[in-house]
Amino acid sequence: MAAFRSRPTGITGCTLRLRTSYRYPLYAAFAALVLTGAGWLVADWQKDVAGDEIWQQVAANMLMVHGGMAMLALLLLGALIPLHVQRSWRSGENLVSGSVMAAINAVLIVTAFGLYYLGSEAVRPLMSWIHLGTGVSLALILPLHIWLGRRARR
Ligand code: HEM
Ligand code: HEM
Repeated sequence: MAAFRSRPTGITGCTLRLRTSYRYPLYAAFAALVLTGAGWLVADWQKDVAGDEIWQQVAANMLMVHGGMAMLALLLLGALIPLHVQRSWRSGENLVSGSVMAAINAVLIVTAFGLYYLGSEAVRPLMSWIHLGTGVSLALILPLHIWLGRRARR
């Protein structure tokens, strides 16, 4: 009975681990979003500097791949809520960097909507900068979030 009672009743660090078959596609989707976002930025800048039509085409293709990857990322993020966010939240582990991760993804999704549907001259550039800045911060904070989570587990 004592042995039974001494067993952890909450969600332990071990059960919070994400399966490799889910984790790698998530990493791949985020990496592709960052690369195509950065690629678009370079192509958009070159298009204005060099005035070459090829850069216009590269920029359009980057956004097409980015949009496709965003759809995959949204699918994976939706699955992450019951698989990871709710469980980690209840266990109380890695709350600070986890909350930052959740906020970053929420801002990315809201500004992505803005980029797609708010065409006004005043709002679009603002959405673009917020989206880009938050995207870059995702690339920096996700590895930190993982490192902090794994360190706490150890
Ligand atoms: C929605 C945005 C989030 C993303 C994209 C995300 C992503 C990840 C990833 C990829 C890992 C590494 C998983 C592994 O090594 O198996 C991880 C670890 C972890 N995350 Fe998150 N996370 C998010 C939100 C949260 C939130 C809100 C919390 C807490 C309330 C949290 C708590 C943790 C913990 C505790 C770990 C370490 C798990 C372990 O390895 O045992 N995460 N996160
Ligand atoms: C949940 C994650 C993300 C979603 C859902 C998302 C979605 C989108 C969407 C829908 C667009 C507009 C595409 C178009 O106009 O055809 C866009 C543009 C863009 N995204 Fe993302 N994205 C995400 C993450 C990222 C990340 C991580 C970066 C990192 C750099 C990034 C950088 C950009 C850039 C530079 C643009 C072009 C901005 C412009 O047209 O002015 N995005 N994104």
